[in-house]
Amino acid sequence: MAHNEVKIGKSDVQATALGLGTNAVGGYNLFPNLKDEDGLELVKTGLNNGIKLLDTAFVYGLGHSEELVGQAMKEFDRHSFALATKGAQDFSTGEQVIDNSPAFLTAQVEASLKRLDTDYIDVYYIHFPDHDTPKAEAVGALERLKEQGKIRAIGLSNFSLAQIKEANADGYVDVVEDEFSLLHQDHAVDMMPYLKENGISFVPYFPLASGLLTGKYDHDVKFPKDDIRSQISDFQEPRYSNALAAIEKVRPIAGEHNASVAQTVLAWYMKNPLISVVIPGAKKASQVEANAKAMDVELSDAEYKAIDDAFVKFQTATSGKSLADPD
Ligand SMILES: NC(=O)c1ccc[n+]([C@@H]2O[C@H](COP(=O)([O-])OP(=O)(O)OC[C@H]3O[C@@H](n4cnc5c(N)ncnc54)[C@H](OP(=O)(O)O)[C@@H]3O)[C@@H](O)[C@H]2O)c1
Repeated sequence: MAHNEVKIGKSDVQATALGLGTNAVGGYNLFPNLKDEDGLELVKTGLNNGIKLLDTAFVYGLGHSEELVGQAMKEFDRHSFALATKGAQDFSTGEQVIDNSPAFLTAQVEASLKRLDTDYIDVYYIHFPDHDTPKAEAVGALERLKEQGKIRAIGLSNFSLAQIKEANADGYVDVVEDEFSLLHQDHAVDMMPYLKENGISFVPYFPLASGLLTGKYDHDVKFPKDDIRSQISDFQEPRYSNALAAIEKVRPIAGEHNASVAQTVLAWYMKNPLISVVIPGAKKASQVEANAKAMDVELSDAEYKAIDDAFVKFQTATSGKSLADPD
């Protein structure tokens, strides 16, 4: 394997540089037509192919993703991989309310442990910030759960840099998960340098831009209205054509490695010094198996830079605006 194991923040949690995103494992509220047996197979295929970080959340299927992940991982040695989950959403009133209060987060961790049917969670993320709870108080609640051995590392997701700094006042934050891809590089400028300087790992989500960065789409693609991709800006012009043109420049590099475009893009994240673990999602076990093989692809410095250059249109301009945005 070309890519070494990584350590999450200041914790003892070890993982592979490539994990598995499981929002399509039981995430019936996010994707249509998901089958439980396919979800179980995705997780088992990941663990059987050397992936050592599973990324789930309460909100993926409102607990169902956690239940399926917990069921699938029963066949494996619990200490041989890391398990990450997230919480902060309260649906008890029928509507979603984000709650980071210590009491709510503590109850959420207990509920996740039950659904996952495990004694500990390796990484627990506050999935979204709320308006009211002082950030260091929310993280303090997770620190107490860490002392009790119920979680092993503390994460934040979808927090701004200012919120991360506030949350990390006592230095307890181990990892941040946020959107980042070759098409969305803002955080390389506004967030990731602070994380690196403070020993906080970064986990990018949507690394394949919902499949676009696998190189499987062309100009003729049309998504039905109920497919989220019909609304995602990456699939709208002029971003879409710019993305397809950039992806064409990855193809010859992939060819040099006998790899797919998806594997080559994933290898780019694994070589990026600001990134800790990349967590592509999947709908089919064959995708998981193929993505796991990206751990064998090692890009040269020149190839890494060539991919960087291909996506220069999507890199953050000094104005803070992506050059590929139309307005
Ligand atoms: N913290 C947060 O707020 C947050 C938000 C979003 C996601 N996440 C996490 O990040 C993970 C990744 O995000 P994501 O899964 O939504 O997006 P993604 O990783 O950018 O794209 C995954 C999708 O690309 C397609 N794909 C994957 N591998 C492929 C391959 N080898 N060949 C062809 N197509 C392939 C599959 O969709 P199709 O087969 O349908 O094309 C798959 O579902 C999630 O699973 C979740 O764990 C976290």
